[in-house]
Amino acid sequence: MSAVGIVAAAGSGSRLGADRPKALVGLAGRPLVAWAVDTLLAGGVDEVVVVTPAAERDAFAAVLPGSVQLVDGGATRTASVRAGLLAAGAAADAVLVHDAARPLTPPEVVARVLAALAAGAPAVVPVLPVVDTTVAVDAAGTVTDAVPRGPLRRVQTPQGFDRTVLVAAYAALDDAAELTDDAAVVRADGVPVTTVAGDERAAKVTVPHDLRIAELLAAPR
Ligand code: C5P
Repeated sequence: MSAVGIVAAAGSGSRLGADRPKALVGLAGRPLVAWAVDTLLAGGVDEVVVVTPAAERDAFAAVLPGSVQLVDGGATRTASVRAGLLAAGAAADAVLVHDAARPLTPPEVVARVLAALAAGAPAVVPVLPVVDTTVAVDAAGTVTDAVPRGPLRRVQTPQGFDRTVLVAAYAALDDAAELTDDAAVVRADGVPVTTVAGDERAAKVTVPHDLRIAELLAAPR
């Protein structure tokens, strides 16, 4: 089975308060996007496409291996992944879509996703349990319901797909649709999504606190 990785890296990083796109922010001396590319390759992906903000292509090229294909992203994550999928071509059997914002994802998570695809799953996501009590609130912030957390999971990336399944699901999706992950895209097309174990180190860097935690984890021991 051959697999192509798509790294969604076209976000602005405004919540991080950075002076550059989030994927170019440094972690232990290397930009987040370089960590994400390394994880995919170390976990068994054969080639990588990185989706960048259109104006920043040169800055990404300067920090990534020459073998990585760069593609202009869109206004939403959904549009960016759609662009990456088009550029990825038809050679691979499987596609793994990963967030540049999850720099410390261990390669073992990539390997688990690839193994589930090789075993025949059309769509695979890494997940973790929900450990906090989880509630619903109304517009005033008053708790209206406690949500049983037993069946709930937090979904991470990389998310893996049979390539033809993901291409068909994006083709069926409205151009203006804005979904927060790719599993939602294939589920909208009626595809069952399998889960494998995620990893706390695959946490998403969104706000400055997340970057401080990642710096601690990335520091040499
Ligand atoms: O904004 P959020 O952290 O949810 O973004 C998740 C990932 O999607 C990030 O790695 C970000 O760079 C990417 N993204 C993108 N194109 C956008 C918005 C986000 O590739 N327009």
